Amino acid sequence: MTTSTSAASAAGENVGEFSAVDSSDRSAWFIDFMDYANALPEYRAIRQGLAASLGDLDGRSVLEIGSGTGDDARELAALVGGGGRVVGTDVSAAMVEEARRRSAQGASLPVEFAVEDMRDLTFADGAFDATTAKLVRQHCDDLDAADAELLRVTRPGGRIAVFDYDFDTLTVDHPDRVRTREAVHCFCDGHRNGWNGRSLARRFQERGLAGITITPYTVRMPFAFFRRSMEGRLSEAQRSGALAWTAGQLADWWRPLDEAEDGGRFFASITGFLLAGSR
Ligand SMILES: C[S@@+](CC[C@H](N)C(=O)[O-])C[C@H]1O[C@@H](n2cnc3c(N)ncnc32)[C@H](O)[C@@H]1O
Repeated sequence: MTTSTSAASAAGENVGEFSAVDSSDRSAWFIDFMDYANALPEYRAIRQGLAASLGDLDGRSVLEIGSGTGDDARELAALVGGGGRVVGTDVSAAMVEEARRRSAQGASLPVEFAVEDMRDLTFADGAFDATTAKLVRQHCDDLDAADAELLRVTRPGGRIAVFDYDFDTLTVDHPDRVRTREAVHCFCDGHRNGWNGRSLARRFQERGLAGITITPYTVRMPFAFFRRSMEGRLSEAQRSGALAWTAGQLADWWRPLDEAEDGGRFFASITGFLLAGSR
């Protein structure tokens, strides 16, 4: 029997707080969350889509913004060959430390990691042939600054490919439509930019990116992933009053989902968008 742990989720176990991993003292939880997500089959397709959108990477210099544990940066490093290099950057020192630790254990690749805030990068103008960012813009409170920096450090003619969710695309099969809409909106609004996905095309058109393509990816969410994604935010919001439910009502909302999982009937999905273009 599956038991919902929604009421018991620890402080800091909230995916909306990926903007401040270091201040939570629970970096291990965030690292574990990304490892779980990155192992989903749809995430492999997203990584492959991003890499393909960056063009021929042989000998190129590539920047990854918000590189987390560095696994994607290492995959890109295998594509740039000996003449290229990949720089993975993340605002979290804990994430950069984990990325360096994993790199030291694996095969030698032309990849390095640095603590950098996407809103204020230290690289020179046009320093990179290609720039990518996966699931990081949603955690940024100043996308104007982040977009200006992303374009500034990519050379003219260079490639840009980013992927991000739009959290109001989340679906879950639940008998209570009203409360489920409230839960989804609460989860979406727990992110700095929960609607980032739907604004990607407009934002980069306004900045003059050429040859823009937008590709949607829908991820089917296993119950374990859905629960890890939602429960921290919903519990915090219930406790703070941002979600105007009692603790009992929150537990009642989880119950049919636990039962659906036990009966092999659970269904949830979320859609994100891969934007690509030339600077
Ligand atoms: C959901 S994780 C994604 C990590 C990685 N891109 C992946 O897909 O596995 C979001 C990452 O963005 C980082 N991050 C959040 N705000 C940032 C900012 N302002 N600048 C750079 N990185 C940031 C977090 O520390 C975290 O590692």
